[in-house]
Amino acid sequence: MESRKVTVPDVARMKAAGERITMVTAYDFAFARLLDEAGVDLLLVGDSLGMVVQGMPTTLPVTLEEIVYHTRMVARGRARALVVGDLPFGSYQASPTQAVESAVRLVKDGGAEAVKLEGGVHMARTIEAIAVIDVPVMGHVGLTPQSVHRMGGHRVQGRRAGERERVLEDARAVQAAGAFAVVLECIPLDLAAEITAELTIPTIGIGAGAHCDGQVLVLHDLIGLSSDWTPRFAKRYAEVGREVVRAATAYVSEVKEGVFPTEAQAFKPAKAVAG
Ligand code: KIV
Repeated sequence: MESRKVTVPDVARMKAAGERITMVTAYDFAFARLLDEAGVDLLLVGDSLGMVVQGMPTTLPVTLEEIVYHTRMVARGRARALVVGDLPFGSYQASPTQAVESAVRLVKDGGAEAVKLEGGVHMARTIEAIAVIDVPVMGHVGLTPQSVHRMGGHRVQGRRAGERERVLEDARAVQAAGAFAVVLECIPLDLAAEITAELTIPTIGIGAGAHCDGQVLVLHDLIGLSSDWTPRFAKRYAEVGREVVRAATAYVSEVKEGVFPTEAQAFKPAKAVAG
């Protein structure tokens, strides 16, 4: 595994070289360390935090303070991966000035090396304002979970009349505004392929098919730490949740039966001191 630190220019080089980019969400030190060791290129401190860590129905209640806190832990855990902090709902929509202040906080206090925000044409000025102060910005178009109420749920975008052109325009606007990469979430694979072929910046897909320049998955889906339900576009590479239940069940029964701890896990009494 290549151990050189991943940088923003590397991400562009990977697209040019046809090397697929990998991104996984991370929310704490322990998993950041493991994902980094596995060779994941980018760690996204996503606002999916709200759903998979905090147990909320949407990402909307997540605060900037919480993302800063989790980004700090992730940044401490990684050696190689590029750390991207997600700007949560309400931390950038009010104005480009608010967005710049939030992005600066994520970099200064969280240790993020880049930030991500949702939206295309309507967020172009905001992306530009952040990029111009040299904070690399990752865009996010298609299904944008912070717009869940407008979209009427977490549903595939770009299939209905007019939607396809809108997603395409959003992706173009994100690139023109100076983003270094863009997440394409839940759009038809032919649309993702068209965007990937047209844009010079890398596309990172989730539920957008195999033709993107890279892929992103939510950690809990990838390792089977969420409920038994997995989104159609995700793949569970492990069943960590079941393994946790198995281990904890064994622990409970061993403690109840007096099997754990044994002498091996205990400290010997202090030797009597002579005199
Ligand atoms: O918050 C998140 O985890 C995300 C990914 C789904 C791209 O935005």
